[in-house]
Formats: sequence, C-alpha cells, structure tokens
Amino acid sequence: MIKRIGVLTSGGDSPGMNAAIRAVVRSALARGIEVMAIEDGYKGMVEGKMRLMERRDVSDIILRGGTIIGSARLPEFKELAVREQAVAMLKSNGVEAVVVIGGDGTYRGAMALTAMGINCIGLPGTIDNDVPSSDYTIGFDTALNTVIEAIDKLRDTSSSHHRCSVVEVMGNHCGDLALFAGLSCGAELIITPEQGYVESEVLEKIRHLDEVRKKRHAIVVISEKITDANALAQKISTVSSFSGRATVLGHIQRGGSPTAFDRVLATRMGDYAVELLANGVGGHCVGMIDNEITSMPIDDALALPRRDRTALHALHERLI
Ligand code: F6P
Repeated sequence: MIKRIGVLTSGGDSPGMNAAIRAVVRSALARGIEVMAIEDGYKGMVEGKMRLMERRDVSDIILRGGTIIGSARLPEFKELAVREQAVAMLKSNGVEAVVVIGGDGTYRGAMALTAMGINCIGLPGTIDNDVPSSDYTIGFDTALNTVIEAIDKLRDTSSSHHRCSVVEVMGNHCGDLALFAGLSCGAELIITPEQGYVESEVLEKIRHLDEVRKKRHAIVVISEKITDANALAQKISTVSSFSGRATVLGHIQRGGSPTAFDRVLATRMGDYAVELLANGVGGHCVGMIDNEITSMPIDDALALPRRDRTALHALHERLI
C-alpha cells in the first residue's frame, strides 16, 4: 500500500487548481495516505521544495483562483539529469507517486517520471481547453465566463459609438475560448487557429455587416497568436464606417474564483487521481468524457487529434 504521494501544479495556472489540490489532499488523507505539496511545479521538485499537508492546510481554498502551491514552467525537465535529480528528491522525501496538474507539457513530464519508477497521474489544469482526453479542462469554464463578462460590457459601448470591437482572448493554439465565448455572446465574427485566418475575407465580412446588414456594432473574437489585434482594428476603421478598437484581455482570464462547474470538475478529478495511485496505476491522465470521470494512458492522450469544431463554427455562422 502506497504511504505518501506528492501533488504539484505546473504551467500556466488556472482557476480550480486549488479545488483539485484540496481534493487530492483530503481524498488521500481519508485513505490513510500522506500528501506532500511540491511547490512551483517540477522546478520545486528538482529543488526539493516539498511540505507535508494536513486537512486544514487546504481549508478555504476551494473558492480561490490561482494555486496556493505555486506554478512554474521548467523546459529543462526534458533532460534526463534534471529528472534524475527530481527522482532523488522525491525518494529522499519518501514520495512514491505524484498527482500533476497542468497542460500537455506537464503530462510529458509525468510520463517521463512514471518511466523512471515514480507513478504519476495527470489532471488537465489549463484555461485553454486544449487537452483532448477531457471534454473540459479545469479552469476553462471560469475563464470563459470572465471573457463573456468583458465582451458583454464591450458590446454596450461598441453599440453606442458604431464601433467594431476586436477582442483577443487566450487559448495558446486552441480556439475553444474564442469559439465558446463568441457563441455565448453572439459575436459577429469568431477567428480561431482551427478555422484559419485570411485577412481580406475578414475585412470583407466586416464591410458586409456594415453596409448590407447595417449593424450598429460588431464584435470580433479572435484567439491570441493569430494576428495583431490593434492592427486589425485599424484596418477595420479604414475599410468600413465602423471605428475599430482592440481589447487584449490578457492574464485577467487566468484569475478569479472558479465557477461551480470548475470546482466540481476539479474535485471529482482530484479524488479519482488518488484512487488510481492507490490502485498502483501510473502514467495515466484523468478526463471527463460525457460527464464520466475516466482515465487513459498519457501517451494515448497526447496522440489524440484536436477536437473538430467545424459544426460549432457552422452553427455560429447560421445564427449571425
Ligand atoms: O496555457 C495558458 C496560457 O494562459 C495560454 O492561454 C497563454 O498563451 C499562455 O498561458 C501565457 O503564458 P504566460 O503566462 O507564461 O505568459
């Protein structure tokens, strides 16, 4: 029977990570397993920054955004010598297995550690929703609601001034935040990496909304890393009667108290991760598929194709 596990958060933080940490700690303690919090992700693991957690160490955190144990990115974790140092630190602290909470980079580290004899279970913690082994990632719903609130406000002022608001949202290379926010807000245009970007087509659509549809305002939701939102807004001003304005929402999307959905998701996943480790499973990641909490090997998860969002984009087009 396993005696002590670790828990860490890695990569960009996301609302609900704390709820997951709480679930891991309390679920493990309820099973008679000790838990060490590993601070600042794999970096803290390598540096041996670990502390034993008690039930009350996770009191009052279910409602808090961010992660109380810190997060970091450590590209050097790809190097064997760095991982060997991490394994040595885990062993000297009596940590036999670890729950890692993060995105695909975090999962790769978990797979490599499992191959070195430390069973790891991955939980999808990222606002990007770019982990296809789960319908939803922890933090996506909260970030989506933050984006929606911002766009609803922008709509008010855009409408008063015959403006076109270009709203850039996060997502890394995944368009889900933009797509779901655009659908939720009735945005006139949604631009995602999956659908591609042709500037002339976008400008033509804006002109149509202006000249033919006589819209008082237009909202364009665009994923980050596609084009410069300010430059696009300026071009919109030159080709239409809208005055274009860009808003880059940035890191505000990563903060805030998690929604009920994210709290429940994180709680269910955290508990399931501990159950897997208690049963001797390693190298798996937890996901929610059709509302069921499940797991699959991390290497299978990383090989999954991106989700096809064509139907949702088509739905959006039909309603505009
Ligand atoms: O993965 C989460 C995320 O917020 C992405 O949406 C974004 O591209 C990236 O992290 C930003 O990273 P950083 O906080 O390191 O600037």
